[in-house]
Amino acid sequence: MSDLHIKEQINALCKELQLHNYRYYVLAEPTISDFEFDQKLKTLEQLEKQYPQFVDANSPTQAVGGAINPNFVTVKHNKPMLSLGNTYNDEELLEFDGRVKKMLGSSDYAYTCELKIDGLAISLIYENGKLTRAVTRGNGVEGDDVTLNVKTIRSLSKQLSGNYPPFLEARGEIFMHRKAFDRLNMERLAKGETPYANPRNVAAGSLKLLDSNEVAQRPLDIYVYHVFAQDNFLFGHFEALQAAQNWGLKVSEFSEKCNSILEVLNYIKHWELKRKELSFDIDGVVIKVNEFIHQEELGFTAKIPRWAISYKYKTEAALTQLISVDFQVGRTGALTPVANLKPVLLLGTTVKRASLHNANEMERLGICHNDWVYVEKGGEIIPKITHVNLSKRTAFSEPITMPSHCPECQTLLVRQEGEANHYCPNDVSCPPQVIGKIQHFISRKAMNIDGLGEETVELLYRNKLIKGVDDLYNLTYNNLISLERMADKSVRNMLKGISDSKNKPFANVLFGLGIRFVGETVAKKLTQQFKSIDHLASASFEELCAVDEIGEKIAQSVLSFFQNPANLALIQNLKNANVQLEIANDSQTEAISTKLNGKLVVISGVFAKYSRDELKNLVELHGGKNVGSISAKTSFVLAGDNMGPAKLEKAAALNIPILSEEDFDALLNND
Ligand code: IVH
Repeated sequence: MSDLHIKEQINALCKELQLHNYRYYVLAEPTISDFEFDQKLKTLEQLEKQYPQFVDANSPTQAVGGAINPNFVTVKHNKPMLSLGNTYNDEELLEFDGRVKKMLGSSDYAYTCELKIDGLAISLIYENGKLTRAVTRGNGVEGDDVTLNVKTIRSLSKQLSGNYPPFLEARGEIFMHRKAFDRLNMERLAKGETPYANPRNVAAGSLKLLDSNEVAQRPLDIYVYHVFAQDNFLFGHFEALQAAQNWGLKVSEFSEKCNSILEVLNYIKHWELKRKELSFDIDGVVIKVNEFIHQEELGFTAKIPRWAISYKYKTEAALTQLISVDFQVGRTGALTPVANLKPVLLLGTTVKRASLHNANEMERLGICHNDWVYVEKGGEIIPKITHVNLSKRTAFSEPITMPSHCPECQTLLVRQEGEANHYCPNDVSCPPQVIGKIQHFISRKAMNIDGLGEETVELLYRNKLIKGVDDLYNLTYNNLISLERMADKSVRNMLKGISDSKNKPFANVLFGLGIRFVGETVAKKLTQQFKSIDHLASASFEELCAVDEIGEKIAQSVLSFFQNPANLALIQNLKNANVQLEIANDSQTEAISTKLNGKLVVISGVFAKYSRDELKNLVELHGGKNVGSISAKTSFVLAGDNMGPAKLEKAAALNIPILSEEDFDALLNND
């Protein structure tokens, strides 16, 4: 193929994928399946790898990350990024409208109302339709160039379409949907990391990450709320947003043009009631005079526009007294101060406890024993203490400080430089750490031990029957039946569950060991690369870092795990118990039956009983073949929850049977 031909092919694929991204993320009307999209993206990636000279900086492949930002460069904004004046009630808003009417000398103007998303502001520069720069608000005058990171946002157009102006600056809000935030926090908890406080912090933090690969793992989204086009060919703000949407930018579908302040008040009331139904957090509404000629006439004060204002929804706060502070030790040894409060009613629930996060937060609050504090419910589920009511403080109050020793095992606490948390380093015998580790080992995504729950783990530990995950494999019927509330059947179930777990793949075991920063995906990568625990244990820092997606932080954590003699002893015990500590060899993949001989199976969605890998294994062990996409040749689709709508549609169109996890079990187990 000639160079010209290849260049054309790459360009055509870029354009096609950009269009599909636009249809998927902006219009929410995809015309091809996720699988087809991924296939095309892979083809493009391969071509770009082979012919790097033809890679376009705005290629859709850049959206999956790929480059390390050397450091952020500071860039001056074309026009300062201002903030908005705030109103907190209808009277203040009516006063704003009064001022607008007076200055314009008429009531012949409209407002555009928009949701005020709680994220962070970004300025986007498009030159000849190409995204060339993305800069954070910074101090309003200059901000950080975070272009590489912003390019990982899938819903953001990197190339405009249609009749766009040659130079365009768009401003908008980058944010994270609550569901994505919850998922991210679940993953962090599984890895033994402290969860993030709220979606806004994650969005802000993500843009400042140095590795855009990591940013690509954070599902961020954007809404454009302002465009400056060079020629003033547009009538007003609402029309400009519509034009921006036609150029491929994602604007909020919840914006509305209102012809009177009463309509504005209705919009505000409507979203105050409905905000919980949105998939993201908002903290109010932004109201903008719509027509550009009127905006110009109204102008700006030193800090804010006179033609726009925000209406902030109330965050209800309650005042209560601090009774005491507990210091809780988590699975990773991190200490969390938790405030016990005099019970107080807040937004319909009684609040008795609030997290104080860490020593930095306690310092910020300057909190003392018996203080009166304000609690609020923000985006987070756990209420937080926002500030102390100093007027109610009694003389000689003593500040609350972190203890020097672990409240559970009395080991001297450590706090590494730059870390917010204090840690108890005694991970071998500090009770909550040990119990937490065993609970993690038996959890669904790790060893998934049937018949053994979190409370039983605690019971077994308190009765000195287990002090590590290896002891699970030495439990006997007689040990267990003598415990309180243990019946014959539950003991048998538990022992069977423990015994069955010896067949769990190596990746599950490795994840279950709870090595810091080794989540499910990392565990899979490591097992694929090193094949056995012995190889992994003897890998050097460089060898670990060379693995795809393994960075220095993870490598260091894995190294320290294997440097600890207690962990080596634990692994020896697991080996003796015949737990899988290497990738299953061929003899273990010998066929179980021929029930699925010649069958082509597509697995899609999330399953309750098995992981997808386990299901794939089962298909092969019974003689079937796994295939990625649905075609007329597919024998059946094994569908879990959240199967993509495109796949469902395709299966239906081709008349391909859809089996649930239970159907599949029945198929394999029926003679
Ligand atoms: S307009 C001159 N519109 O709220 C106009 N801002 O204090 C300035 N925000 O940090 C902004 N949603 O990031 C505007 N629909 C919206 C917004 C919005 C959220 C943020 C913005 C800024 C702050 C304004």
